[in-house]
Amino acid sequence: MRTLIKDGTVLSPSGGVRADVLVTDERITAVTEPGVVETADTVLDATGKYVLPGGIDAHTHLEMPFGGTFSADTFETGTKAAAWGGTTTIIDFAVQAKGTSLLSTLDKWHEKADGNCAIDYGFHMIVSDVNDGTLKEMETCVGAGVSSFKMFMAYPGVFYSTDGEILRAMRKATETGAMIMMHAENGIAIDELVAAALAAGHTDPVQHGYTRPSALEGEATSRAITLARVTGAPLYVVHLSAAEALSAVAEARDAGQNVFAETCPQYLYLSIEDLAKPGFEGAKYVASPPLREKRHQADLWRGLRTNDLSVVSTDHCPFCFKDQKELGRGDFSKIPNGMPGVEHRMDLLHQGVVAGEISLGRWVETCSTTPARMFGLYPRKGVLAPGSDADIVIYDPAARQTLSAETHHMAVDYSAYEGFEIAGKVDTVLSRGKIVVSSAGFTGSTSHGNFLSRELCQYLN
Ligand code: URP
Ligand code: ZN
Ligand code: ZN
Ligand code: ZN
Repeated sequence: MRTLIKDGTVLSPSGGVRADVLVTDERITAVTEPGVVETADTVLDATGKYVLPGGIDAHTHLEMPFGGTFSADTFETGTKAAAWGGTTTIIDFAVQAKGTSLLSTLDKWHEKADGNCAIDYGFHMIVSDVNDGTLKEMETCVGAGVSSFKMFMAYPGVFYSTDGEILRAMRKATETGAMIMMHAENGIAIDELVAAALAAGHTDPVQHGYTRPSALEGEATSRAITLARVTGAPLYVVHLSAAEALSAVAEARDAGQNVFAETCPQYLYLSIEDLAKPGFEGAKYVASPPLREKRHQADLWRGLRTNDLSVVSTDHCPFCFKDQKELGRGDFSKIPNGMPGVEHRMDLLHQGVVAGEISLGRWVETCSTTPARMFGLYPRKGVLAPGSDADIVIYDPAARQTLSAETHHMAVDYSAYEGFEIAGKVDTVLSRGKIVVSSAGFTGSTSHGNFLSRELCQYLN
């Protein structure tokens, strides 16, 4: 079964070239000058369109237990929505509950995802209970294709780890080559600010932002970097939102440390003004770290250009406004933390290209190629080259669309980007050679997605 994608502009981190892409069954078999291959079973005309490696969203939370509820997208709905938006791989987080083992957690997440995903998927492991057993199991996880572990300096009593626990896990990461991913906010200080705000009768969603100041993200990021330096562990700072945190990452990278960071579209496009929307509307925008003052956005775009921010992920963690965000009416600290976005990352970052903030090459690099290398999936994913999986997006830069909860495919009753006008739109998506999204709609299947056993990070020095 051969599919030929003809006459498109094929994108990679080094830019775009006119080329044809030949797919045979599940793999790419040739990238040639236009016209070299003449026939195929299916021919897709990509004239005037971009042809790029499928998006890789390295940070999603599907069916995640949090704050007494579960994130609203299942593996089925979340992976379908991802495909609609040109993302063909997700890496989701398995969540160790306190008192349970990493391996039983991994089994549980395999059970949830197996046979229910429209696109390929991998797992990171959230470590919330550091003990001898957990540390030993980190080795087994790496062998089982889960080579990255998220830890939290926030959420005391839930996911929080002490500096000592982080240090122990980092030593194990150094030993195994695994990546430590860090939620870097000073949760101990934040909890004091939250208690004080509530005691003063401040209960609105915007208080979520006021009680998690950017300086406390900067402080935690610096501390995580120091712990990583002391132990030699590679560090990946997740969902970086603040200029102070970015400076700390840039300084460590300049010094040659294996420190990496991602940001998310919500920090590039939304701000604390959204969190301050009247009524309870701001609850839609409650996520941690919180949306920041707009002044941080220019720094984040610059970080994407300089590669101090190397990846854009969504931190997709949707909770319905009506029945879930509602849990925190009258007490902002009880609003489930997280925002929807898995469907819109490629489109939103394409706006950065249109606005001249990043190049076409950086778009592909931050949204596909680097996440593949960062998390041990390259060259199977993240590149259009012979031998790679045929995860391919045909993107029409001339199309226009308006984002809305009425038209999105995520199982959540609002859009954080309601009314955003987007230049560009996904035209066709192939996952391992199969057309899953096209003008015919979604033609994939939720049994198509395979688990991806990942290697170690491919950037370490
Ligand atoms: O608010 C967020 N980000 N929810 C998801 C969990 C996390 O910390 O990534
Ligand atoms: Zn986090
Ligand atoms: Zn997250
Ligand atoms: Zn709901």
